[in-house]
Amino acid sequence: MASKDLEYLPNHVAIIMDGNGRWARQRNLERTEGHLEGLERVRGLVQHCVKVGVEFLTLFAFSSENWQRPESEVTYLLHLFVRAIENEANQLEENGVRLAFIGDLEAFPNELREKIKSIEKSFPPNPKLLLTIAANYGGRWDITQAAQKVCESVLSGVIRPEQINIDTIAKKMSLSEIPEPDLLIRTGGEKRLSNYLLWQLAYTELYFTEKYWPEFDVSAFEEALIAFSRRERRFGKTHEQIHSKDVESLSQ
Ligand code: IPE
Ligand code: IPE
Ligand code: MG
Repeated sequence: MASKDLEYLPNHVAIIMDGNGRWARQRNLERTEGHLEGLERVRGLVQHCVKVGVEFLTLFAFSSENWQRPESEVTYLLHLFVRAIENEANQLEENGVRLAFIGDLEAFPNELREKIKSIEKSFPPNPKLLLTIAANYGGRWDITQAAQKVCESVLSGVIRPEQINIDTIAKKMSLSEIPEPDLLIRTGGEKRLSNYLLWQLAYTELYFTEKYWPEFDVSAFEEALIAFSRRERRFGKTHEQIHSKDVESLSQ
């Protein structure tokens, strides 16, 4: 089945790209080789999203907890990150892909921060795909920084505490400008969120696959899209409400 035939295509796909290290170890390679191979999958996936019409893709590249890895791996990942941004930016732009970043970028070396800033500025608006890279990102950090911003609004008298509602906080969260993820994919077999997008995933469909990230090719992605298209998203309503216009109108 080609994804153009799918009834429901997710508008926003978020991915936890896990399993690079285990993929490499399985082949007696260094973990770093797994990261390098993983980057290749990103390229193919981005092209495929543009092709089928997924408008938002948000990739977990480096978590706030990943600093705890051996220093050599962290250094390698940061270098790979800089190199990937440098090498891919032009091609992405030509393909109508806009690049953005979320996460606590303050912790990164100056060189990387400057690069990120200049790249974010250089892309034109109205892309075919918005590719967001979560780097030094943590869902708890995100909620905390949103809470800080809301507190600032209260202190400066813009709003009163009793006026704070879900929307007030949602507007301060990362990715607030785009729709929430419809589909979360985690490769590598683990069934956890590892502190990714905790707020934004509240009603996202979750898809877990045993495949390691370097094995997650376009056909594996298509499988995930097909699985998504078969889900029924009820958002708290009943199956009947979703399928019957009459029941729907009674409830309103
Ligand atoms: C995901 O793969 C990549 C990053 C976290 C940067 P891992 O490096 O976590 O691979 P495994 O889970 O050890 O196999
Ligand atoms: C999550 O993978 C982070 C990224 C994919 C960037 P991890 O491999 O760091 O997650 P845990 O530690 O197994 O939960
Ligand atoms: Mg992992």
